[in-house]
Amino acid sequence: MIPVSESLARVRPSPTVAASQRARELIAEGRDVISLSAGEPDFDTPRHVKDAAIAALEGGKTKYTAPDGIPELKAAVAAKFRRENGLDYTPEEITVGAGGKQVIFNALMATLNPGDEVVIPAPYWVSYPDIVRLAGAEPVIVETEMAAGFKLAPDALEAAITPRTRWVLLNSPGNPTGAGYARAELAALAEVLLRHPGVLVLSDDIYEHIAYDGFTFATPAEVAPGLRDRTLTLNGVSKAYAMTGWRIGYAGGPAELIAAMGKLQSQSTTCPAALSQWAAVAALEGPQEFLSEACATYRRRRDLVVARLNAIPGVMCPVPEGAFYVYPSIEGLMGRTTAGGRRIETDQDFTDALLEEQGVAAVFGAAFGLSPHFRVSYATSDAVLEAACARVAAFVAGMRG
Ligand SMILES: Cc1ncc(COP(=O)(O)O)c(C=O)c1O
Repeated sequence: MIPVSESLARVRPSPTVAASQRARELIAEGRDVISLSAGEPDFDTPRHVKDAAIAALEGGKTKYTAPDGIPELKAAVAAKFRRENGLDYTPEEITVGAGGKQVIFNALMATLNPGDEVVIPAPYWVSYPDIVRLAGAEPVIVETEMAAGFKLAPDALEAAITPRTRWVLLNSPGNPTGAGYARAELAALAEVLLRHPGVLVLSDDIYEHIAYDGFTFATPAEVAPGLRDRTLTLNGVSKAYAMTGWRIGYAGGPAELIAAMGKLQSQSTTCPAALSQWAAVAALEGPQEFLSEACATYRRRRDLVVARLNAIPGVMCPVPEGAFYVYPSIEGLMGRTTAGGRRIETDQDFTDALLEEQGVAAVFGAAFGLSPHFRVSYATSDAVLEAACARVAAFVAGMRG
């Protein structure tokens, strides 16, 4: 047996990856499985972005680059922050990594020590607590309520902050709920944070462009300029431009933090992939119609899924402000028994039985820190969503007790 490091031993295997893996195994056995577990757009990357990567390849842009991003991409990122968020960052205040995930990893690994605390509202994106643990620090989970729109209340934030708090992680619109903080809600959180000058703020804005209806996206560094010098504003091309496989994420923040993150990256991946960086320049600087077209499609799918799930007795599905997930409550189904004889005591019992008995893969709420819920990704076709919701309805209709 090969002993793993103490820091790795603190980390859980990714529950979302495990859910997808089980679905793949069943498919390999010849089972008819519909997966609602993928956290990525089903669209193809826009043509002009692919063309830019091909041109970069043909133009010999195939070598190492500056560790935290080519100047052209930093300029495109700076222009994006100015254009869309009213934020001015110099190139020294911008970093580019191999996906938003690496940028978050760099920020936390570069700043956390054992005993430090990181405040994370639940439900949260599955990777946050584990990256914090890997860095040797402690996640401090603050549960939110569905009735409060899954949003962190200012007094709950205040209560969670201690002298050991190094970071607060915010994600809006969020994974797994799709909840988005309105400007006034961010301002109320900022009021608390301004009283705690030692706390850094990570605003994970990766779903910025997938926002619906009357919801207007806002980000803390812009809402509360007093926080700008200790806020890392994180974004990326994965979700916005259907570029998950290209692995480019970026952030703006204080130069000192950005330099520390760049140092770490130079000793890990050296630099983000050169061709992907040129593709990201094209995504940020090229035509932006893709964003509104994709958003309109997601919105239609959101309405479809919310309506179908809310028609199922025992399931309560709030209407999210953004992202491409819903996070319905299944409180009303606890204690019941499925047609296949499985008793549902937890949300994992529910998703396990749903997969085995109806061939629908979704991720259980405990993975995201708030139960009993399950996460549905609706980044898939209307036909698949209709079929999946019909199976969930049949699954619940077959329950007794
Ligand atoms: C909330 C959130 N942040 C960050 C990421 C990371 O995205 P990427 O590393 O593809 O940029 C994801 C991906 O699922 C996410 O859901």
